[in-house]
Amino acid sequence: MSANSSTSRIPPDHLFMDGTVTAEQFVEFGNGFVHELLLKRCRLAPHERVLDLGCGVGQKARVLAEYLSDDGRYEGIDVFAPAIEFCRSAYDEKKNFRFQLADVSSSHYNPDGKRSATDYNLPYSGNEFDLVFLASLFTHMLPDEVVNYLGEIRRVLNQDSGRCLVTCFLLTDETRAATRRNDPAISYRFDHDAGVCRLLDPQDPAKAVAYDEAWMRGAFAEAGLRICEITYGTWAGGKDMLRALQDCVLAVPA
Ligand SMILES: C[S@@+](CC[C@H](N)C(=O)[O-])C[C@H]1O[C@@H](n2cnc3c(N)ncnc32)[C@H](O)[C@@H]1O
Repeated sequence: MSANSSTSRIPPDHLFMDGTVTAEQFVEFGNGFVHELLLKRCRLAPHERVLDLGCGVGQKARVLAEYLSDDGRYEGIDVFAPAIEFCRSAYDEKKNFRFQLADVSSSHYNPDGKRSATDYNLPYSGNEFDLVFLASLFTHMLPDEVVNYLGEIRRVLNQDSGRCLVTCFLLTDETRAATRRNDPAISYRFDHDAGVCRLLDPQDPAKAVAYDEAWMRGAFAEAGLRICEITYGTWAGGKDMLRALQDCVLAVPA
């Protein structure tokens, strides 16, 4: 890969919408996520088939473009049209990288979307992927939508090789207590109760959502996904050796 393509895969300032605000952060977060979570924890191999659900402007794709071999495959899908347009153009020369737009509604990212995430079918066939990852997607989706996506993830994951990595905000006794405290170390307070989840802003529910951990565990199990490991992030002020903001769930087909 040339230095030019690596640089041209950093989006313009107005497209930063993935929690980063500078090019340096975009690069640092992408490198950290791919190396620590996808390569080390999920043991992603260069020849594997990867689905990046809610791929945004390609923060993870940029790093994967240097790691996946020509036998490997990357699919990214997102509801935010400018992000997909940017990625299509930036990865034009990578024939094994593909980006698709899902015209699915989201109060925060695509309010005029035509389809509902509660019954949207991912445009892939069954057993297609070795790894499906969602970096901060369930943090922007509501419970029925999460249930549908988990079912779809299970369907597209290969029964033998498949694994799934999800980062999200999980409400436990500890994180609930922390969010009630007025502690400046807490990134999000999720003041609004919405049943199995809590919202940052009820006027824009998809702005940020935190889930009851027991509910999330049940939803994975119902979808036929067995959780192997949960690690907790720092978002509610907790200490974390990985220095990750969000909690992280790793699962395989049951
Ligand atoms: C916080 S950003 C994370 C982007 C990317 N995963 C990353 O880590 O750089 C959340 C992304 O999820 C996308 N998104 C929201 N709802 C979605 C849905 N129902 N299906 C697919 N993508 C969605 C948004 O458009 C946005 O790009």
